[in-house]
Amino acid sequence: MELKVGVVGATGIAGQQFLTALDQHPWFKVEVLASSPRSAGKTYEDALKTQEGRINWWQNEPIPKRFKSMVLKQAKDIDTSALDLIFTAVESDAAKELEPIFAKDIPTISTASAYRMEDDVPLLIPGINSEQMSLIAHQQEKRGWKGFIVPIPNCTTYGLASSLAPIDREYGVKGVIMTSLQATSGAGRNGGVLSLDMIDNLVPYIPGEEAKVEKETQKILGSLGGGVSVTPADFGVSCTCTRVPVTDGHTETVFVATEKPVDIENLKKAYADFNTGLKELPSAPESLFTVHEDPFHPQPRIDRDKDGGMSTHIGRMRIDNVMGGVKFVMLSHNTKAGAAKGAILVAEELVIKGIIRSN
Ligand SMILES: NC(=O)c1ccc[n+]([C@@H]2O[C@H](COP(=O)([O-])OP(=O)(O)OC[C@H]3O[C@@H](n4cnc5c(N)ncnc54)[C@H](OP(=O)(O)O)[C@@H]3O)[C@@H](O)[C@H]2O)c1
Repeated sequence: MELKVGVVGATGIAGQQFLTALDQHPWFKVEVLASSPRSAGKTYEDALKTQEGRINWWQNEPIPKRFKSMVLKQAKDIDTSALDLIFTAVESDAAKELEPIFAKDIPTISTASAYRMEDDVPLLIPGINSEQMSLIAHQQEKRGWKGFIVPIPNCTTYGLASSLAPIDREYGVKGVIMTSLQATSGAGRNGGVLSLDMIDNLVPYIPGEEAKVEKETQKILGSLGGGVSVTPADFGVSCTCTRVPVTDGHTETVFVATEKPVDIENLKKAYADFNTGLKELPSAPESLFTVHEDPFHPQPRIDRDKDGGMSTHIGRMRIDNVMGGVKFVMLSHNTKAGAAKGAILVAEELVIKGIIRSN
C-alpha cells in the first residue's frame, strides 16, 4: 500500500517532525510540501534559511535528503486530486481557512485547534477513544464533503487525557487538577517565547492553553450521543499551564479524585496491560504507557524519546489523601506523540479501518 500525502506547514516545528517521521514511512509517501506565501516557490532548504544563512532545522535527525530540493507550494493552491491525504501543521487562523478547502476533497488530519471542538468533529487518540471516528461519516454528510477534518488534541491534552483513561475505566474520575511544565518547542517558532524569557526562568502563563486542555480532555473522555456529537465527560478539569526551559517533552503533575478508592499496584497493572489493539500500526509504541518505579523519573531529556517518543510516561504514582484519589507525574513528547507522529498514528488507524483509502 502506498498513499500519496501532502504536508502543509512543512517548515514549522511540527511540520519538520512530520517530514522526519514520514521520510521512511511504509504506507505514506510525501508528494507535496506547502507553507505560507512567504515560502512558496522556494526549495524546502532555502525556505528554512535565515537572512544570515543559518538553517532553521530543529530536529535531532538531519533534514531528510529527498525533501531538501522539493519546491514548496502555496497551501491554497494544492491540487488535492493528486493526493490521498493531507497533514496540516499551521496555526489555528490559517487552519480555519485552509482545512475545509482540503477536506472538501480528501481526508485532512490536523495538529491545529481550529476545528477540535466542533460537534461533528472527532478528537481522536488511537486506542483511547477510537469510537469517536464514527462522527466522520456524519461530518461528511452534514458538510457535503468527500473528505473530512480530524484534528488531534493539543499536545498538553494528549498526555493528560491518555493517562486518565485507565483511571476512569477502573475507578471512575471525579475531578482533576493538573499543573504543566511545558517544553519551549510547544510554543512554535513565533509563539511569543524568546530565548531571553527561557534562560534561568519559567513563564507561569500560556495564553489560551488552560481552557483548551480542560475542554478537550472532557471531549476525549466523553461519550457519543446518538452518533452525531460527543457528550463531554462530567468531571471537572482544572489546569495551570506553565512554560519551562526544556526543549521537548511536556511534564504534568496530576491529581485525580476518584469515585472508588485506588489500589496503586492494580492501577500500575492497568497501565502496563492497557491494550490499544493497535500494535501493528507502524507508528504505534510497544506500550502506550511506561510506568516508572524510580521516583527520579520520568525526566524529559532522558525519557521523552523512548519508544519513538510515542509512550506516555507515568511516575511517582501514589495515593492522594486530600483529593481522595491518586497523584502522579506524567511526561509525553509534545512534537512527537503530541503532534506529528500522533497525527500519523491517527491516519494509520483510519487506514486500517478503511476510512482513508487510495483515491
Ligand atoms: N509545536 C508543538 O509542540 C505543537 C504540538 C501540537 C500541536 N501544535 C500545533 O501545530 C500547529 C503548528 O505549530 P508549530 O509549532 O509547528 O508552528 P510554527 O513552528 O510556527 O510553524 C508554522 C507553520 O505554518 C506555516 N504557515 C503560516 N501561515 C501559513 C499560511 N497562511 N498558509 C500556510 N502555511 C502557513 C509556516 O510557514 P512559513 O515557514 O512559510 O512561515 C510554518 O510552516 C499549530 O496549530 C500548533 O498549535 C504544535
